[in-house]
Amino acid sequence: MRHPLIIGNWKLHGNKHMVSNFITALRNELSSVIGCDVAIAPPMIYLDRAKYHLTGSSIALCAQNVDTHVSGAFTGEISANMLKDIGAKYIIIGHFERRSYHKESNEYIAEKFAIIKNEGLIPVLCIGESKAENEAYQTEAVCASQLDVVLNRMGAKAFENAIIAYEPLWAISTGKSANPFQAQRVHKFIRDYLVLHDDAVAEQVIIQYGGSVNAGNAAELFTQPDIDGALVGGASLKADVFAAIVKAAAQAKKPDASS
Ligand code: 13P
Repeated sequence: MRHPLIIGNWKLHGNKHMVSNFITALRNELSSVIGCDVAIAPPMIYLDRAKYHLTGSSIALCAQNVDTHVSGAFTGEISANMLKDIGAKYIIIGHFERRSYHKESNEYIAEKFAIIKNEGLIPVLCIGESKAENEAYQTEAVCASQLDVVLNRMGAKAFENAIIAYEPLWAISTGKSANPFQAQRVHKFIRDYLVLHDDAVAEQVIIQYGGSVNAGNAAELFTQPDIDGALVGGASLKADVFAAIVKAAAQAKKPDASS
C-alpha cells in the first residue's frame, strides 16, 4: 500500500527566521498526524538550518535542485553527495520552472535522476504538459516522453524508490488546479504506462499532483485512487495551511480502501 507524500516546495521564498518559525509551528501542527510522509524544500542555503530544526522529527528534507557532477570545477553548483551529507532525502528535478527558465532538457534531467539514485537519494521527477499541449490533446504523449528518457536510460527499476510529480504547467501558480478527475486520468495513465514496463514498480511508485493545491481542494484530490499526495508551492509557505493539506492526505479515503 502506498503512503501519501506531501512536499512543500518553497521555491525562492523564505529567510532564516521563517525556517525556524515555520518548522516549530509545523511540528506542533503535525505532532499527532500519522499515515502521511512529509518533506519541506526550502532554498538550498537554508537546508542545513532546516535540518537542525527538524532534529528528532519525521519531517524530511528535500532539495530543489542538484548538479549532474559529484565534485570538480563547477562554480556555483551543489552535488547530490553534498545534499546527502547534510541530510536531504528527496531532490526535485525536472520542475517546469527549471525546464523553462534554465532550459533544462529531458536528457539533462535524466542525468540528474541517475546521479541522485547513485547517491541513494530519492528523485522527485516533475512532468507535465503546457496549456497548448493540453488543448492539443498532447498530455499523455508529453508525459510519456518525459518518462521515456529515464526508462530508456535506466529501465523501469529506476522508479523503485523514486517519486513522480505530475504538474500541469497551466496549473502552477495560477490558482487554477486541475480538477480531481482530470488529474486522476493523467495519474492513471502514468501508472499504466509504467505497468507496461514493470507492474510491481508501477504499483508502488508515488505519483504526486502539483499545481495550485491548497487547503480547500486538497481533500478531493487525495481521494482519487492514483493521486498519492502533492508537491505544493504557494500553499506550503504558511505552516497552518501546509499542515491542513498534510492532514487532508492523512485522512483521505481511497475508493478501494472503504470496502
Ligand atoms: P503552486 O502550488 O504554487 O501552484 O506551485 C506548484 C509547484 O510548482 C510545486 O512544485
